[in-house]
Amino acid sequence: MLCPLTPFIKLMNGITFLAAVPAGGWHRQSSDWMAIPMTNEQKELVQTSWQKVEPIADTAASLFYGRLFEIDPSTQPLFSKTDMADQKKKLMQVIGIAVRGLDRVDETLAVVAELGKRHGAYGVTDRHYDSVGSALLWTLEKGLGDQFTPDVKDAWATVYGILANTMKGAVVTA
Ligand code: HEM
Repeated sequence: MLCPLTPFIKLMNGITFLAAVPAGGWHRQSSDWMAIPMTNEQKELVQTSWQKVEPIADTAASLFYGRLFEIDPSTQPLFSKTDMADQKKKLMQVIGIAVRGLDRVDETLAVVAELGKRHGAYGVTDRHYDSVGSALLWTLEKGLGDQFTPDVKDAWATVYGILANTMKGAVVTA
């Protein structure tokens, strides 16, 4: 039986299946859980492309928040009391940890779930995750240029989907 507090992982034929928490929350039946396939190739694409973004992390983070506030102005008030210089560093550090942690997904997703619970308290809603995902892919495209191939984009969209679903699902709604 699946423990709803532990992300479920199966390794089969080089494919990692993550049973990420569905957007509806932890209270759902285990049969509702989504299996999100991610190939080892996708994992490597994300890890190698992130290595190219890390040296320009400051610029990338500034581009990211600029884009986020442009495409979804409703996100800006959430950061009204935030030290943005500090926030940019924290965001890039956590993405780096998650990207490196793709080799140990169960531990990483436990940390990400805690991050998701805190985001519920920050006033972040499910809809905001779509805006953040778009701003993130846009930022990676700007940072990587031609190296942001369709395969790299798909790999990042997959990873972001796993992170976002885990964060959304960890918010206690009861
Ligand atoms: C994968 C997605 C996301 C990641 C990795 C992420 C990462 C982080 C990190 C590391 C922090 C620092 C504070 C903490 O650890 O609790 C933070 C704070 C915050 N995030 Fe996110 N975040 C994500 C999604 C979002 C979304 C969708 C929003 C909505 C616009 C958002 C808004 C905020 C706000 C308002 C804070 C609090 C800032 C403060 O302390 O004043 N985040 N985020």
